[in-house]
Amino acid sequence: MRVVVIGGSGHIGSYLSPMLVEGEHTVLCVSRGLRQPYQPDPAWSRIERVVIDRSFAETRGEFGTSIAALEADCVIDLTCYTLASARQIVDALRGRVHRFLHCGTIWVHGHSVQVPTTEDAPRDPFGDYGCRKLAIEQYLHEEFRTSAFPAAVLHPGHLVGPGWIPISPAANFNPEVFADLARGHELLLPNLGMETLHHVHASDVAAAFSLAVTAAGNIAGESFHVVSPAALTLRGYAERMAAWFGRKPVLRFLPWEEWRAHASENDARVTWDHIARSPNCSIAKARTLLGYQPRYSSLAAVQESIAWRVQQGLMPAPQHAQS
Ligand SMILES: NC(=O)c1ccc[n+]([C@@H]2O[C@H](COP(=O)([O-])OP(=O)(O)OC[C@H]3O[C@@H](n4cnc5c(N)ncnc54)[C@H](OP(=O)(O)O)[C@@H]3O)[C@@H](O)[C@H]2O)c1
Repeated sequence: MRVVVIGGSGHIGSYLSPMLVEGEHTVLCVSRGLRQPYQPDPAWSRIERVVIDRSFAETRGEFGTSIAALEADCVIDLTCYTLASARQIVDALRGRVHRFLHCGTIWVHGHSVQVPTTEDAPRDPFGDYGCRKLAIEQYLHEEFRTSAFPAAVLHPGHLVGPGWIPISPAANFNPEVFADLARGHELLLPNLGMETLHHVHASDVAAAFSLAVTAAGNIAGESFHVVSPAALTLRGYAERMAAWFGRKPVLRFLPWEEWRAHASENDARVTWDHIARSPNCSIAKARTLLGYQPRYSSLAAVQESIAWRVQQGLMPAPQHAQS
């Protein structure tokens, strides 16, 4: 297939674009050409780089037509964040692609009711990002129902991979959380530490998209969670990471209002965004319909990412590595 990957050089695309080449597809990676993929891969020499600034092209009403002009069988849209963006690309691609895969997020769910959350759970997101992604998901499914537009939506969890900091046991991106665990220092966690995070390795997300490109059944009109096999509690995550660093965890739990007083405004906001949702999603549907088989548990993904940071000298080394 001729596959266009919009945003094909970022967290997901760094794995996905080469993976599609290995699958014998012709791959065109659309980006501004500003950043390099996270991992080098010889397959990049066989990937056509198409330089377009989506924001600029969209304001001129030219982005959709530019993508249509690439004459792909399948378009994977990793960087669509507004309904207007989705409308522009769908209008241009209607009747011109066999498959259209949109990258959503598990934040289309709000508070969990029954966990693990399945794709058919009623949507009740909160926050601008999740609400916008839900509007896109609903629009794409409506386009499938009304005009057979062949869109499917893949909803990743918190992306993890070597090259960037994973969401930490304090549910924010402050690298000091991992450093405290590595040094055996006390770590403050909100509440009882029983709220959850649901990570996924970016290569597993890439594999799910790759499977969706060629999925035999009709996956149009469907949504799929793409996360690790199991979510983590903050407490369990902190304990296991401390052990990985060869340390005994020194954890102290504070009610939210007290905990937030110890954190920066930004860290507290990010932590709240994550624990208020406490995602815990099912991958049974992706396993069944796509053949999705994640290679990484949440902990294995995070440990690989932190090992990379240690190797780069960005993090204290483990006392004795444990898995
Ligand atoms: N991050 C997470 O934990 C997370 C979790 C769930 C879902 N998601 C979803 O994952 C998707 C993002 O995937 P990602 O994290 O792999 O992306 P990313 O790392 O942010 O990469 C963005 C890609 O888009 C390109 N890009 C950025 N701005 C552009 C523009 N104006 N015009 C053209 N290309 C542009 C970038 O290359 P250039 O800079 O060179 O243009 C790069 O290839 C989103 O749909 C998001 O909702 C993310």
